[in-house]
Amino acid sequence: MAVNDAAVGYTTHDGVAVITLNNPPVNGLGLSTRAGIVAGLERAQNDAAVKAIVLTGAGKAFSGGADITEFNTPKATQEPTLATVIKAVEDSAKPVVAAIHSVAMGGGLELALGAHYRLAAAGAQIALPEVKLGILPGAGGTQRLPRAIGLEASLNMIVSGAPVLSEKLADSGLFDEVVANPAELAEAALAFARKAGAKEGPHPKVRERKIEHPNAAGFIQFARNSVAAIAKNFPAPHKCIDAVEAGVQNGFDKGLAFERECFVALVQTPESRALRHAFFGERAASKIPDVPSDTPVREINQVGVVGAGTMGGGIAMNFINAGMPVTLLETKQEALDRGLATIRKNYEASVRKGKLKPEVMEQRMALLKPTLSYDDLRQADLIVEAVFEELGVKEQVFRRLDEVAKPGAILASNTSTLDVDKIAAFTKRPQDVVGMHFFSPANVMKLLEVVRGRQTAKDVLATVMKLAKKIKKTAVVSGVCDGFIGNRMVEQYVRQALFMLEEGALPAQVDRAIEKFGFAMGPFRMSDLAGNDIGWAIRKRRYVERPDMHYSKIADRLCELGRFGQKTGGGWYDYKAGDRTAYPSSVVDDMIRAYSKEAHVERRKISDEEIVERLVFALVNEGAKILEEGIASKASDIDMVYLTGYGFPLYRGGPMLYADTVGLYNVERAIRRYAARPNGDAWKLAPGIAKLAGEGRGFNG
Ligand code: 3HC
Ligand code: NAI
Repeated sequence: MAVNDAAVGYTTHDGVAVITLNNPPVNGLGLSTRAGIVAGLERAQNDAAVKAIVLTGAGKAFSGGADITEFNTPKATQEPTLATVIKAVEDSAKPVVAAIHSVAMGGGLELALGAHYRLAAAGAQIALPEVKLGILPGAGGTQRLPRAIGLEASLNMIVSGAPVLSEKLADSGLFDEVVANPAELAEAALAFARKAGAKEGPHPKVRERKIEHPNAAGFIQFARNSVAAIAKNFPAPHKCIDAVEAGVQNGFDKGLAFERECFVALVQTPESRALRHAFFGERAASKIPDVPSDTPVREINQVGVVGAGTMGGGIAMNFINAGMPVTLLETKQEALDRGLATIRKNYEASVRKGKLKPEVMEQRMALLKPTLSYDDLRQADLIVEAVFEELGVKEQVFRRLDEVAKPGAILASNTSTLDVDKIAAFTKRPQDVVGMHFFSPANVMKLLEVVRGRQTAKDVLATVMKLAKKIKKTAVVSGVCDGFIGNRMVEQYVRQALFMLEEGALPAQVDRAIEKFGFAMGPFRMSDLAGNDIGWAIRKRRYVERPDMHYSKIADRLCELGRFGQKTGGGWYDYKAGDRTAYPSSVVDDMIRAYSKEAHVERRKISDEEIVERLVFALVNEGAKILEEGIASKASDIDMVYLTGYGFPLYRGGPMLYADTVGLYNVERAIRRYAARPNGDAWKLAPGIAKLAGEGRGFNG
């Protein structure tokens, strides 16, 4: 007999009831699923013919855990809560066997830990990843996992949130059996359940096991010290340790109560909100409003890269790392040799650090075909151009690519400032042209801005977004505009940083304030690293193209002194040979003071709070304009750009979520205040901010 409700299936097989979670995509334990499990359990208890129960999941997971979309909504706490469900499983008079395939994470693993027996298919990913969402396992995970697999292994899993393959846990005490062939899991679980059903109860409960450790207090202290160093802005890892310790010291029930308390507190923290925003933001970024998810994609097997410089080499590495052959084209043999040598050097560094096996390095290098001839690009399905940032050079390359590339090949440009529509117009196939804006170092940075030209075909976009996943990038679609999403916003941020130097701050103060806010690097240290000449070139272009846009000339003065940054031994800071430490420079600080004097600006003390507000709200204001113009389709896309490409602190969730946290009413007031001050012309309030603030809303609802 088989009865199915929407979220949970119930069938019986020769004395065994099978309760099947069926809540795609990952069997999240939302309210209806939880209620379905309890109903299934009751039904099984009431059926005398049923001797044992198998709990399993349909589709691509046993369960991905609690339904994150329910957090902070009434559904999350509505009965049956996950704790009630797990208790019902554990207290079942008939033995419950969890049959785990593919994924058992968070609440999914906690549910399985409530069962009397557990079978897993090999290859299943087992994790308590709650910490990555800024919370801790809230349905007994911090209490049952240590009792199942021991203190050390469980703390590692709980504090890191990292998945472990089921076969690696075969002897850990978690599983009664690991089934080598996943296709045989269902049968194995039924057979196991039949045997268990034939046994006299009571059946074993993980909660009744002891936590054995020769020096639990010592290990917990060790874990605390390790976490203190790496998680200073995240409360959750610390709470994970506290909760495990509570169970070790005070027993299961008290530990469970303490875990609950911590969960309720953590789920409301801004850090957890930010991490959940990033989780959903990453997934939302791959969805383009007018490109349906079932858009057919083009097949990409062979890749061509034009230009083997800083970016071209890194871009090529992405594809060969994913096992895709790459043809790398240069104009001169020596440039090609240099490019290849850099790629090899990068891999050798990974080999030296033990991160890459030498034979894997050789396999990857073998996928790389260097060439000086465009003929070798004829078979490529995708060609990424990364030559000099000059429209004339791009024109030459794209005209040539148009001649040689096969029909349907995607032609991508890595340009950071040029107009992708103009580049597309150099070809007779603008529908096949797209921007793929990688960030430096391209083999390391997660962000990929996918620049959608006016004529870029939908299947080209869908293909590039899918490919981005394959090469492990976070891809965000941007419309065509100067600087796309990321650099267009950062320009406003840098403008404010420079104005503040003119008005009274010094580089070290600005950097310190924003780094304290959580940025990986302040604007001046960053500029010294990237090269101050890059910004100089952009400003020179701006002076011509946008005479209405007012800039502080302080940075030009610095460049006139030849202080281009680390590469010239001095920039906003002084550097010593072989040392990347930024030492405040009296030459530069004097130059800044002299500049203010010349400009008749009375220098004043600028507070750290003002520095942070002006830098971050400059990003927010430009971000709001980018949204209004449709350059980005959603606020979370902008946040993903900043979290993955610009070192914005993850625990603040990106500039747009941060603005929501501060409240757009307050953001608007601050912007209006700055607009009325010196250099206020840089603050043209984005109408969207005023509108949302007036409606009492934020960028994210
Ligand atoms: N709740 C709600 N939705 C979830 C979810 C969850 N726990 N896990 C995944 N999803 C959604 C995703 O948002 C995505 O939705 P979309 O298709 O609309 O964008 C969809 O499921 C598929 O997700 P992925 O694209 O990530 O699919 P993958 O196959 O690549 O990965 C996964 C599957 C490994 C399960 C991955 O989604 C994942 O890591 N999920 C989060 C797991 C997690 O953090 N669980 C803990 C939840 S908190 C908890 O359990 C609290 C408890 O202790 C009380
Ligand atoms: P680079 O100067 O390091 O490399 C450019 C390479 O292109 C050189 O090796 C050169 O020999 C080669 N080249 C020039 N003309 C060519 C042609 N006609 N055919 C084949 N090869 C040719 O420059 P970089 O930094 O790698 O930049 C390349 C592109 O990437 C530019 O469009 C730049 O704006 C963009 N970009 C650069 C970033 C950076 O941080 N360097 C970040 C993101 C994008």
